[in-house]
Amino acid sequence: MKVLIHPTEDAAADCVANLIAARLVQQPDTVLGLATGGTMEAVYRRLIGLSQQGRTSFAGVTSFNLDEYVGLPPTHPQSYWQYMRQHLFDHVDIDQTRTHLPLGNTPDPAAEAIRYEAAIRAAGGIGLQLLGLGANGHIGFNEPTSSLASDTRIKTLTRSTRDANARFFASLDEVPRLAITMGIGTILRSDEVLLLALGTAKANAVARMVEGPVTAACPASALQMHRKVTVVLDEAAASGLALRSYYDEVHPAGRDPAS
Ligand code: GLP
Repeated sequence: MKVLIHPTEDAAADCVANLIAARLVQQPDTVLGLATGGTMEAVYRRLIGLSQQGRTSFAGVTSFNLDEYVGLPPTHPQSYWQYMRQHLFDHVDIDQTRTHLPLGNTPDPAAEAIRYEAAIRAAGGIGLQLLGLGANGHIGFNEPTSSLASDTRIKTLTRSTRDANARFFASLDEVPRLAITMGIGTILRSDEVLLLALGTAKANAVARMVEGPVTAACPASALQMHRKVTVVLDEAAASGLALRSYYDEVHPAGRDPAS
């Protein structure tokens, strides 16, 4: 794992946006795995800016989002379909017919999960997977105890995840209890992973992901088994790391000589 620790949230978000933008310049037909959540909003804002300045383009991109709430139609204001339109798709030159999210309001969510996994494979797999991190160590909606070999499927959300996401809904009762999510196996099959975590609320999960044992109790720790992962953090999210001085020595202030 490459661990890049930046002094501020802004610097960390800049780093992630610049890495994605550079990748799209280098390989315009990248299959991008996309994430939602509050953390990604800063990344998408920057990508919109870079795209409007002509410094990158989404014209050749195919995208697959990590997850969607079961029961929410794509028109629901809190669906991840709406999130993606609002925060990225409506503001860049992406071909929306090549953007994919699981369909939340299907009569057969289990069949939808199988269809979605097959669609990812048919597209040649994910080239670059963007990830956030749940405070409980989840990636996508792979909650603790998720199989580390899982494909896209339905997961029951933990109470802590529903609590964390209740801020986007009118009340906790409105937060769906189920989601369709790419599996940990799906994520591990991507060519490259780029994870952003910000703030002290993520510090414990970051330490378990990077330095803890590989365990289904912290789904993000499975990324230790992936060949190419970059973890981008701000100071606060990095505050629980034991090997901090090593990361600073290799990548001072989050700088990556390779990029
Ligand atoms: C959500 C999403 C994840 C996201 C995580 C963190 O529930 N399913 O993809 O990375 O939780 O969200 P946030 O960035 O709002 O803290």
